[in-house]
Amino acid sequence: MSWVSIKDLKKHIGEEVLIKGWVYNTRASSKNIKFLILRDGSGLLQCVLFKGETPEEFINRFDELTQETSVEVTGLIKEDARAVGGVEMAVRSVKIIGISTDYPITPKEHGTPFLMENRHLWLRSKKQHAIMRVRARATKAMRDYLDDRGFICMESPILSANSCEGTTTLFSCDYFGEQAYLSQSGQLYAEASALAHGKVYTFGPTFRAEKSKTRRHLTEFWMLEPEMAFYDLDMNMDLIEDFIEHVVRVVVVDCKNELETLERDVSKLECVCKPFPRISYKEASDVLLKETDDFEEGGDFGGGHETILSEKYGKPVFVYDFPKEIKAFYFKRSADPKYVRGCDLLAPEGFGEIVGGGQREDNYDELLKRLHEYELNEADYKWYLDLRKYGSIPHSGFGIGIERTVGWICGVPHLRETIPFPRMLNNLRP
Ligand code: 4AD
Ligand code: MG
Repeated sequence: MSWVSIKDLKKHIGEEVLIKGWVYNTRASSKNIKFLILRDGSGLLQCVLFKGETPEEFINRFDELTQETSVEVTGLIKEDARAVGGVEMAVRSVKIIGISTDYPITPKEHGTPFLMENRHLWLRSKKQHAIMRVRARATKAMRDYLDDRGFICMESPILSANSCEGTTTLFSCDYFGEQAYLSQSGQLYAEASALAHGKVYTFGPTFRAEKSKTRRHLTEFWMLEPEMAFYDLDMNMDLIEDFIEHVVRVVVVDCKNELETLERDVSKLECVCKPFPRISYKEASDVLLKETDDFEEGGDFGGGHETILSEKYGKPVFVYDFPKEIKAFYFKRSADPKYVRGCDLLAPEGFGEIVGGGQREDNYDELLKRLHEYELNEADYKWYLDLRKYGSIPHSGFGIGIERTVGWICGVPHLRETIPFPRMLNNLRP
């Protein structure tokens, strides 16, 4: 008998098949008819044990099928429009593989701290399962988009002697007697790779010692960072909006069931169409100064400020040309040298910044000056300066936070649910 995934059962109507999975739920409607809901990672299946059709021994042992017990079940697949997935199984046999007693996550409501302690089990729950499917699909859509357009993946190192995004959030470690840091961003290496290949991206985990507890900050998060030779800031924003439109469209189509499970209002995603509004930092701060009294011009946006800005448009909005004081050392100066050629993309519905990027300083002397202004050690950046010495070019790129993007697409505000095993200020286990 063939072992089949629940998601493929529609192709097996009228056949006897084998399913391997876990008990999701059970219900005994009478002595003669009992229901077993199975999950196998690919979907849920309603299995029916009928007296007369299912051998008695399995009906008698029905009570042993406790939540999350692993089983192998065989039976006949029948079409049933009312059942999840459009099919159900008339059970012929049930074999218990691993008993599960007192599974801690029951169908009743649990508090989040408890669920976080049991993250290794929480991942099996319906909603968490749906979020991880969206995450996987979104990430694949991002990579496919770039791979199909001539980008190549050039991984950046995790261990590095350089900082990229300021020195206050560095995780440091001993590297055979030398100080090393966990990468905050693969960007500097992506720049070197772009000068070798033209269009590249780096994809991997990034680390920031974020000491504040917020729903938008993890200490370990995944970032995909495209970097393009001969791109200026406008070309960068053109690419970002086309990329985001594509990713959202793919997920809305391919993850219809998951988004339904998450009760996501998909109409909010369907209107994510190019072009996205582009406002300068100056314009953004004029809006904020009018609408709130906790914003000072020249300062960075807090979560509340991003919400005010993004709620105005109902689709993602770019903010560009930031005051130099609030951005990292590598940005190119704007026409007005008080500002730099950065661009952030703010997601709608208060989800805040999902993309940070910009045009890089390509002039050797300017970059050197900047390193000194930011009190960075010139020797550690010698290789990075070289890129401005041997055929320097205008170039730009961006970093998209996978968790922030997944949170927005799923309508899940706290990042702890958007990565399998989140790392935050007080979270190192499981
Ligand atoms: O804006 P950031 O700091 O930009 C960079 O790191 C650039 N070097 C990227 C580049 O141009 N190649 O971070 C980029 C994105 C943010 O927009 C956000 O989505 C995410 O990374 N991010 C975080 N996500 C979760 N937790 C954190 N602590 C994050 N910090 C940034
Ligand atoms: Mg940023």
